[in-house]
Amino acid sequence: MSNADNPLIIALDVDSADEALRLIDKIGPAANFYKVGMELYAAAGMSLVKQIAATGRKVFLDLKLYDIGETVKRATRQICASASPAFLTVHGSRSVMQAAVEGRGDSPTKLLAVTVLTSFDQDDLADLGYATPVADLVDLRVKKARASNIDGIVCSPLEVARVRTLAGADMKLVTPGVRSAGADKGDQKRVATPAEALRDGADYLVIGRQVTRAADPRRACEEILYEIALPLSAN
Ligand code: C5P
Repeated sequence: MSNADNPLIIALDVDSADEALRLIDKIGPAANFYKVGMELYAAAGMSLVKQIAATGRKVFLDLKLYDIGETVKRATRQICASASPAFLTVHGSRSVMQAAVEGRGDSPTKLLAVTVLTSFDQDDLADLGYATPVADLVDLRVKKARASNIDGIVCSPLEVARVRTLAGADMKLVTPGVRSAGADKGDQKRVATPAEALRDGADYLVIGRQVTRAADPRRACEEILYEIALPLSAN
């Protein structure tokens, strides 16, 4: 495991602060890192981010910022000044990444770039006017993220091995799209198991429904942690 601590980031894909806090409480010590995405942010805003951080847990604020540089810089500055989430996402376009790095200043928040949305395929890129193959665009954006002093990349577990070779050892690689073998895949088509993603170079795994919709979310986390430890201790 490349991350010495618990690698799980639980996606709080719920629609209210109360529900999010109840879920965190149920999970207890089995996870210490939570993702607040657009839906929950729209419902509960920075005050929830601050509330979670105040309990000693880490927050991954997944807002995927994308706007003119000045706006991204100022929004990043606001976010860092008010809550300093552990991770904040921005899109992997050079001007956006550079603006976010400027806005972050000396805050401890780590900036992660989204290269190409994992739901995108070649048709979606063609729709934007890009003829570049998805994999080549991911490669290009990882290189630009590194050159822009971005701290990490969000990528599919199926591309994490390649991203690790381009990103180098220090960048944090975070992979959603992870499911234990046998777990319900929901609407996910391309998934890897937690152990596979870590083996291929991921530092953190974003896991949502497998935990949040489980009858016992704490137990669901513990089972994943157990599953991750097995192949490693067998080596
Ligand atoms: O599928 P699951 O419920 O585990 O998704 C957890 C989180 O990961 C969600 O917040 C979703 O937006 C994100 N995700 C993603 N890319 C994927 C699959 C899920 O960013 N391919």
